[in-house]
Amino acid sequence: MQDESLSRQIRQKVDIVDIIGERIPLEKKGKNYFGVCPFHDDRSPSLCVSPEKQIYTCFSCHATGSVFTFLTNYENITFAEALQYLGEKVGVDTKNIHIKKQNPKYQQYYDLYDLTVKYYQNNLSTKLGETARSYLEKRGITEEIIKEFQIGLSLRGIDDLTKLLILKKYDLTDLNIMGLSNGDHDVYSNRIMFPLYDPNGRVVAFSGRVYASEDSNKYVNTKETPIFVKGDCLYHYHIAKQECRISKSVIVMEGFMDVIRASTIGIKNTIALMGTALTNEQIRLIKRLSNQIILCLDGDKPGRNAAYKIGEIFLKEGIEVKVVTLPHDDDPDSFILKEGKESFLSYLENAVNYNDYKIKVIREDVNFNSIQETSDYINRVIEEISVIDDVIRCEIILKKLAKDFNIGYNTLEKKFLNLRKKNQKPKVQLEVKKVSLSRKNKYRKAMEQVVYFMLTNEWVISEVEREKLLISDLDVRILVKEIIYYYKKYGSVTIADFITYLSDKDELLISLNSIINASYRDQLDKETLYLYFGVIREDSINRQIKVLEKKLREELDPKRQAMIGNEIRALRIGEIKNG
Ligand code: UTP
Ligand code: MN
Repeated sequence: MQDESLSRQIRQKVDIVDIIGERIPLEKKGKNYFGVCPFHDDRSPSLCVSPEKQIYTCFSCHATGSVFTFLTNYENITFAEALQYLGEKVGVDTKNIHIKKQNPKYQQYYDLYDLTVKYYQNNLSTKLGETARSYLEKRGITEEIIKEFQIGLSLRGIDDLTKLLILKKYDLTDLNIMGLSNGDHDVYSNRIMFPLYDPNGRVVAFSGRVYASEDSNKYVNTKETPIFVKGDCLYHYHIAKQECRISKSVIVMEGFMDVIRASTIGIKNTIALMGTALTNEQIRLIKRLSNQIILCLDGDKPGRNAAYKIGEIFLKEGIEVKVVTLPHDDDPDSFILKEGKESFLSYLENAVNYNDYKIKVIREDVNFNSIQETSDYINRVIEEISVIDDVIRCEIILKKLAKDFNIGYNTLEKKFLNLRKKNQKPKVQLEVKKVSLSRKNKYRKAMEQVVYFMLTNEWVISEVEREKLLISDLDVRILVKEIIYYYKKYGSVTIADFITYLSDKDELLISLNSIINASYRDQLDKETLYLYFGVIREDSINRQIKVLEKKLREELDPKRQAMIGNEIRALRIGEIKNG
């Protein structure tokens, strides 16, 4: 366990809603905030974050904990790292905590890339960068953009970078591993260099664009390295992370030039796929940004096809998908340059719901002179809308179909209703916790409730202490002891602090989590508390009686038998005070 009072101090200064909200879209409902739980595969908002208790709980997978638990699990960092991260955020000095450094080799790789970025940036501002600069200028990429996106230039065929890095004592093998050198030659020659960032904003790779040569590859990207998984890269993710929280949506584009252009008109909740194939990791990362995706891919046929495919994927992930269809020969970059900000904003505003988009796309290739194709089309549309929740929208579409093709509405509706019945999946209930709760007997429930109330109503602590309750279950007994200990030491206790305090006691945490997950009521009066005490006492007496009865059966001495019998009787009528 780290320094308890330090973690307590930091915990009390941060708001768990902010910290989780920076990572997962949260929505306020009543007192609490809800979001999609990142700790299991889910789409419904089963993660509940309580600003009052400063904890989160998942109704579905029962993940529970404090802001520290969240960060260690979500960011895959140690407790000490979470402490340091939060300490920095709230201005609490954490210098004294010992933190295990990450693999120093990786740090060296990050440093290597930082140095390379500076080198490329510098090239661009020299005389040798003139042609590149004028190319960028022609594309409307200003000094400001160049700076913001750390755009640079690799020089033609002189292997300068490799030489420089060797001079800086880097190992040639490492330069090859890291995709900067090929043997002792530079990998990039005479290209405009765009740094690629990881989700934490560190430069981990480059994409180099031709600008003045006959080389047919428009972009050359860094190969896969220990710090760069090519397929998982999403350009601008580290910025979008913040921006999407504000705008409540993420705009997905194809190329990073599109993202850069959008940024110049103030649209920053954007990411680029860097191509159109989508990896599972990319899906997972994008899901983290927002519950709403706006696909704004290129206007050409491949772009439209990609929107069709990618939209389906995210729809299945339970995310709201909208689609912007740009003119055939435009991508967001060229469109914004030509038509300007207002025009682009209005395209965004008019993004169509994915289901409508799909119907539109299906229609594009149909030959309505063919009866077969027409009926296939109608069937397909009905199939598509049979999964739409909004029945009014379905009816509008059906009525339009009926009118457009002069078919009886009833015929269409019948088919629609049949499909709908087949497609409707039973809604998954979030009732898991209720089941496990009901399996606990009334004694266990009473014990748990007392623990819960000790953590939510401090006056209960002294009542419990005064009662000297005998608690049968060992885990609850220890929890009660620990709460009393903690309260005496700090003068107050909250669930969040107590979880932090228990952070290295796994078994107790499991018990506590199960108690928190049971969602007991928060409010309590003395009378009710004493009802619980009564139940706990009854349990403890029953157990004592059971022990004595066993003793009685084994006892041979009649005198002793009588004594035990008396004891049992006294317990039964409550003569012997508990404890
Ligand atoms: P595009 O060809 O749409 O790029 O490819 P773009 O954004 O319009 O670029 P400009 O305007 O011509 O400069 C989209 C993305 O696909 C990847 C790049 O990541 C690019 O941003 N790509 C494209 C490559 O990796 N290699 C290529 O040769 C082409
Ligand atoms: Mn382009």
